[in-house]
Amino acid sequence: MGTPVPFKLMRIGPGESSSYTDQSNYGWARHGDANIMSVPHILSSIISEDVRLNLVEPNIYSVYPIGDTPGSYDSIGASTIYDVVACNRFYNLIMWGYSIKDYATLCKDSLVSSPEGWVLDVACGSLAFTAGIYADCSDRPMVFLDQSIKLLRKAKSRLEKLNGNISKNMFFLHADALQLPFRANVFHTAISLNLLHCLCMADVKRALKEIQRVLTKRGNSAITTLVQSSRWSDRYLNMLAGSGALISRSSDDLLSAFNEMQMQVTHEIKGNLAFIKYG
Ligand SMILES: C[S@@+](CC[C@H](N)C(=O)[O-])C[C@H]1O[C@@H](n2cnc3c(N)ncnc32)[C@H](O)[C@@H]1O
Repeated sequence: MGTPVPFKLMRIGPGESSSYTDQSNYGWARHGDANIMSVPHILSSIISEDVRLNLVEPNIYSVYPIGDTPGSYDSIGASTIYDVVACNRFYNLIMWGYSIKDYATLCKDSLVSSPEGWVLDVACGSLAFTAGIYADCSDRPMVFLDQSIKLLRKAKSRLEKLNGNISKNMFFLHADALQLPFRANVFHTAISLNLLHCLCMADVKRALKEIQRVLTKRGNSAITTLVQSSRWSDRYLNMLAGSGALISRSSDDLLSAFNEMQMQVTHEIKGNLAFIKYG
């Protein structure tokens, strides 16, 4: 890993700084002013040199000015509807024809096939499907990245409930999947569940390019996304697409994006969900 780069963080409330002390590799490095701190060394070592991170709250950092909410899931009610309805196991089984347990299997397989090094979850949302898997793997350094600060908070609280606290090597990052704030070749595992159906084709390619860029040469990636599948539910998929909630595309169109990015993948379609493995 490269030399740690100091990043200035926002000021936090009076007295709060004293709870963060410099400890080990995962601890905090201080600037001169007691109220201004840099990110933990371990995180700064993978962040691009031109990126400045703001501390939102313990464990959650942002590339945006504090209070900026570019994520559409931060609008009123959206994150709750997503977490309660869209992540419901019956909804997914009946509507989209797959078991949400398949996410855990895919995530676990991906973590096992590159068992060491940094893990990135791109557009982690609230970790509704995979918090349990990550909680069991807390020895690896991990970044959970999303554009929704509300969903990042839910993700953090899920992991906190499961593990009793947030491991020192787990970081939540409010940032853009289309412009990942990381140096190249730093992640051994990159998981991205259900982001691609939120993106137009040009942005799918940007997101894939970014995943390729930040993955090490021997790293692997696991990706899921909704696709058309000749089920009755294609009508619902197209209706959601019509309302602007997501993008409806064929698996051929999806796979052509991977081909164009010269990413050799294996894939499986269950119901309306494509499970894709790269690397
Ligand atoms: C359908 S949800 C999937 C969340 C989670 N991976 C899951 O499967 O439950 C899509 C997620 O993508 C995030 N997202 C959308 N566009 C993004 C972008 N450009 N950068 C980062 N996150 C983004 C949203 O905030 C949301 O959390």
